[in-house]
Amino acid sequence: MTTIVVAMGEKNEIGADNQLLWHLPKDLKHFKELTSGHPVIMGRKTYESIGKALPNRTNIVISRKKDWFQEGILIVGSIKEAVKFAKKIDEEIFIIGGGNIYQQTIDLADKLEVTLVKAELNADTFFPKIDSKIWKKTNEIFHEKDEKNEFDFYFQTYERV
Ligand SMILES: NC(=O)c1ccc[n+]([C@@H]2O[C@H](COP(=O)([O-])OP(=O)(O)OC[C@H]3O[C@@H](n4cnc5c(N)ncnc54)[C@H](OP(=O)(O)O)[C@@H]3O)[C@@H](O)[C@H]2O)c1
Repeated sequence: MTTIVVAMGEKNEIGADNQLLWHLPKDLKHFKELTSGHPVIMGRKTYESIGKALPNRTNIVISRKKDWFQEGILIVGSIKEAVKFAKKIDEEIFIIGGGNIYQQTIDLADKLEVTLVKAELNADTFFPKIDSKIWKKTNEIFHEKDEKNEFDFYFQTYERV
């Protein structure tokens, strides 16, 4: 199973200036619970935005750079290679962004784990449109904002129609 994990606003916005757009510790916990113990695939810019390898997960980072090395991550030159390596490690693999990588992988994903944040924020990076002819929502859980989580949001699961 190949699962995309993303948090997006109501305009499908996901990031600006190579950072996230919100502070939602409940969502970070959800992300950790979903992905821990499994390989995670990400673009080079998302890796740099996180700034370190995510613990307890094989971090597979996609880049075209030939002379770029970092401790604790596996660097690959294509999406195909990333998926091939990840599948060798585990049946359950996760694609964790960013926008550029989501655009290129939404067609190969089996499932989308979306955090829909109830906000419209300025952004420079977006998730592709979720086509209702292709994807159906199979689960949705609402979380109200609180002192630590600055917006209302939904955890949504989409599976193929
Ligand atoms: N809200 C969320 O859930 C979420 C999740 C993740 C990221 N984000 C946000 O998204 C933004 C980053 O996304 P982004 O679209 O700018 O970048 P990105 O998708 O993280 O990374 C793009 C980079 O990946 C490499 N790449 C992409 N396609 C490739 C291919 N086919 N073959 C080889 N290498 C390839 C290239 O690296 P090189 O330039 O090194 O060749 C490219 O510059 C940040 O703002 C981040 O905070 C949000």
